[in-house]
Amino acid sequence: MEKVELEGICVSYGEHMVLRDLSLKIEPGQIIGIVGPSGCGKTTIARAICGFIKPQQGTIKIDGKTMFSHKDRVDIPPEQRHIGVVFQDYAIWPHLSVYDNIAYPLKKRGLPKEEISPRVHYALEQVNMVAYEKYMPSQLSGGQQQRVAIARALTSSSDFLIMDEPITNLDAKLREQMLVEIRILQQRLGTTIIYITHDQEAAMQLCDKIVILAPDGSIAQIGSDEEIIRNPANRFVFQFIGVSNFIPVVIDDGKAFFDLEKKIPYKSHIPGKMTGTKAMLGIRPMDIVFDEDSPVRATVAQAIFLGNMYNYFVRLPGMEIRVQQIAISENAKSYSEGQEVGLAFLEERYFEREDA
Ligand SMILES: Nc1ncnc2c1ncn2[C@@H]1O[C@H](COP(=O)(O)OP(=O)(O)OP(=O)(O)O)[C@@H](O)[C@H]1O
Ligand SMILES: [Mg+2]
Repeated sequence: MEKVELEGICVSYGEHMVLRDLSLKIEPGQIIGIVGPSGCGKTTIARAICGFIKPQQGTIKIDGKTMFSHKDRVDIPPEQRHIGVVFQDYAIWPHLSVYDNIAYPLKKRGLPKEEISPRVHYALEQVNMVAYEKYMPSQLSGGQQQRVAIARALTSSSDFLIMDEPITNLDAKLREQMLVEIRILQQRLGTTIIYITHDQEAAMQLCDKIVILAPDGSIAQIGSDEEIIRNPANRFVFQFIGVSNFIPVVIDDGKAFFDLEKKIPYKSHIPGKMTGTKAMLGIRPMDIVFDEDSPVRATVAQAIFLGNMYNYFVRLPGMEIRVQQIAISENAKSYSEGQEVGLAFLEERYFEREDA
């Protein structure tokens, strides 16, 4: 049975349709990342699953039970859906102690005191915060506050959590640590987690599967991090998950050219992966190498040394592209601004060109 099943979900705010016909299945015990650019509808999905907003169309099932169905007029209230939620902007309450923060949702549900205390302690244990139950939030670090928020979510359910940008406010090192902690917690409890973020790197680090949303709220691709990196479904995905260069190319007389201010031949044959006569070459900065014998000539416009790598901006006629080279290998060589170089292109991908 699927843990969560969304089918044909449509959500509009007034005239503005944010989710159109969204369908998604999540297996139990997985961490699913939902990533996409700001405003694409990630939080809207979370709100719909939790029952904070009512879709105009579709069904939502959790553990096979219908939580929402437009057609059958089912709409189970949020507190009966048993989902633990960690929202970035629903931080913990500053005027309540750690204990009271975690106990609050249980009190609100009307649980007797003797049942609340063991549940709060259980949740505190899961996030290693037992010693802090009497602290006020102002006495805690950002990471500790975040752990309290996770503990509070766990009291609603240790079975299914939705985390919406839970660690965006933390510094880089702490974010890293929290990701590891979330992973350990998930593995220990077997929790199904929907992890929402605009940070595709965090999603790749943490999640079993990633759903990439396009700016219009449609699903651009679903897959493991490896599938998404190796086989991006389209140009949007390729661009979203890492630094990329796009160079317009054209086929002429059986040869491939960069179609820039000048036509620059870069291959003496038609690239196997290309279809049609015009395309957009997508290439990562790491997949471009300096090659003195290459017919593609360019000028180094900017060279930045990043410790373990060199980051170059390299000028071709009519465009600049990024090139990255590992700086710590034995034969690493650096290039300086103004220097003329030859470029070779590995791992090419071809996408549709708008004007094709
Ligand atoms: N209550 C609301 N009323 C009207 N429009 C809304 C409301 N909530 C969200 N929207 C709009 O719906 C779209 C999707 O919003 P949503 O919060 O789901 O985006 P998001 O993907 O979570 O973005 P972010 O990464 O910035 O958090 C946005 O264009 C937003 O302006
Ligand atoms: Mg959001």
